[in-house]
This record gives sequence, structure tokens and C-alpha cells, in this order.
Amino acid sequence: MPATDSSARGATIIGWGSYLPPKVLTNHDLERMVDTSDEWIVERSGIRERHVDGTTIGMSIEAGRAAIQSSGLSPADIDALIIATTTPDKQWGNAATVQDALGMRCGVFEINAACSGFVYSLVAAHGLIAMGATNVLVIGADSLSKITDWNDRNTAVLFGDGAGAVVLQSCDGPGELVAWDLDADGSAGPILWADVGGYIQMEGKEVFRRAVRIMVDSANKVLHHAGVSGDDIALLVPHQANIRIIQAACDRLGVDMDRTAVVLDRMGNTSAASIPLALDDALTKGRIAPGDLVLLVGFGGGMT
Ligand code: ACO
Repeated sequence: MPATDSSARGATIIGWGSYLPPKVLTNHDLERMVDTSDEWIVERSGIRERHVDGTTIGMSIEAGRAAIQSSGLSPADIDALIIATTTPDKQWGNAATVQDALGMRCGVFEINAACSGFVYSLVAAHGLIAMGATNVLVIGADSLSKITDWNDRNTAVLFGDGAGAVVLQSCDGPGELVAWDLDADGSAGPILWADVGGYIQMEGKEVFRRAVRIMVDSANKVLHHAGVSGDDIALLVPHQANIRIIQAACDRLGVDMDRTAVVLDRMGNTSAASIPLALDDALTKGRIAPGDLVLLVGFGGGMT
């Protein structure tokens, strides 16, 4: 897919926020639930603890509120709300409930592109802004703990709950989105799936292999569209699934780990929330300065 059309009205991120539910599940807690060890989980995934028992709606409200507050806008200023989630609490109306709770009056919808959902939603939000919207709230929220089989050590050690959000505002000129790429390969769906009402299922090794490949391919396309190289990237904000996937992708992209946002040790894989949570962490820590090039890259079920 193409780079942004420079004649389209662009956008800039003017606010951000995040939320994690209070209950923390450590690797030591998991040792008492399944046949595993802290050492194995840290070595194979980099994860030490995760937050659980959140609801997608509740976490979205908190992250959305924080993002609006940091933007300096009021809820009435928001023209559209997009929630990226693969774990809605209700069959429909999740985003509408969040809209009502935050006191917004605007169009709302949900995007399900699994762990890539936040990146897909950012591009969709830019589309709305190109069509005339001024302020768009984009939230990535997932409560994977409710679709995790806590008796299955293959998956139980990896996932957590959380939400992250940004407010995009239209601006003159092309804005901050320099280039983008969205893709999917439905033929890989059977290696990572969850039936409606069922638990996450995956072939971990195959997901790992493909994840590295597709993250690098997609990132390289975007670097090419933008006319830059890995050296020009101030911060890489990758999907937080496994530290070894991130390291392998960084190696191939020529971005060292010092220039990479990592929060999975504290949060595990939070699906559509993982990139905005890592972005929020980096912004809050002052790791991104105005004018810096930031590369967001996700992969997820579908496979997206
Ligand atoms: N604790 C201890 N041992 C374990 C555990 C565990 N939790 N899980 C598996 N093992 C065992 C296996 O049974 C295997 O034993 P064996 O050698 O006797 O057969 C051994 O550890 C090694 O297992 P592998 O599967 O080879 O381990 P690997 O190094 O591939 O790591 C992991 C497994 C962490 C799942 C890795 O493959 C991975 O991260 N894959 C990608 C997962 C991912 O990104 N999923 C995205 C989901 S996104 C979404 O849609 C929500």
C-alpha cells in the first residue's frame, strides 16, 4: 500500500495516555498455576509480569480520558473515536459506551486487526482527518486475560491486559504520518486464532518466524516510502510479543535496542494496546523529541 499522499490534510499527535488494571500476575504466580518457571519465561519471552482482570471498556475509558486531558481538549471537541480491540466486552457498542462515559458526542467504531489494530486504526484516523475531521481519539485496548486458558502453559505466560490512546489533530500540510503500510496474509490464519467464545490458540514457533519476517518486510516498505533508513529512526515502537522477536527484527532493520521501546517485561503481550502503551511510556519518559522519526510496527492474528 502507498505512502501518504502529500496533498491530503495531515495530522499530528497532540495527546496520549494509558491505563493498566491494578491486578498484577508475576511469573512466580504463574509457577503455581502451570508447569513453568520464571527463568524459562524470562529467557524465552522477556516477560516478568503482566496486568490482568481488566475490561476493554473500562480500560478504554481511563486511557481515553488521560489522552484527552493531555491534549488540552475537552471531550466535546472530539470528532471521532476509534477503538482497536480483539477482545470487545460486548458484541457491539463498546466504543459507544466509552463515548458516553467520556461525555463525547461523535461517530464511533471498533477495529479488529488483532495486535496490529492500533496501527490500522492510526491510518484509518488519518483517513477521517483527510476527509475533514479535526480531532480523532484512537484507543488500543485489549483484555486478553479473558480469552487466555490459564491451564495452558504455551499461552498463559505471554498475555496481559491494558489500554493506550492518542489524540490526533488535523494540521496544515502533510502532518506527522510520513509513510504507512498495511498488509495481511489470511493463509497464515490457522497458526494464530481464537474462535468466538474460545481461547487463544497458536503455533508459537511458526508465529515467531513469521512475525520477524513480516515486521521487517513491512518496516522496510515504510522506510523505503519515507526515503529513510534504519539509521534515521529515533525510536522503534514494535508490537510487544516477545523480546527475542523484537531483537531479531531490530538486528535486521539496523536499529539498536537503545532506540527501541520495550515494555513487555512489565506488561506482557497486550495485543492492540501494546504499541500505544510502549509509545506512551516513551513519550512520558521524554524519549521522543519534536521532529524525531518514530517507526511503529505490529503483527497479529489473521495474520495482519
Ligand atoms: N514453561 C516451561 N516450558 C515450556 C513452556 C512454559 N511456559 N511453554 C513451552 N515449554 C516447553 C515446550 O514444551 C518445549 O519443550 P520440549 O522441548 O520438551 O518439547 C520447550 O519448552 C521449548 O518450547 P518452544 O516452543 O520450542 O519454545 P520457543 O523458544 O519457541 O518459545 C514461545 C515459545 C515463547 C511461545 C515463542 O515461540 C513465541 O514467543 N512465539 C510467538 C508467540 C506470539 O508472538 N504470539 C503472538 C500472539 S498475538 C495475538 O494474537 C494475541
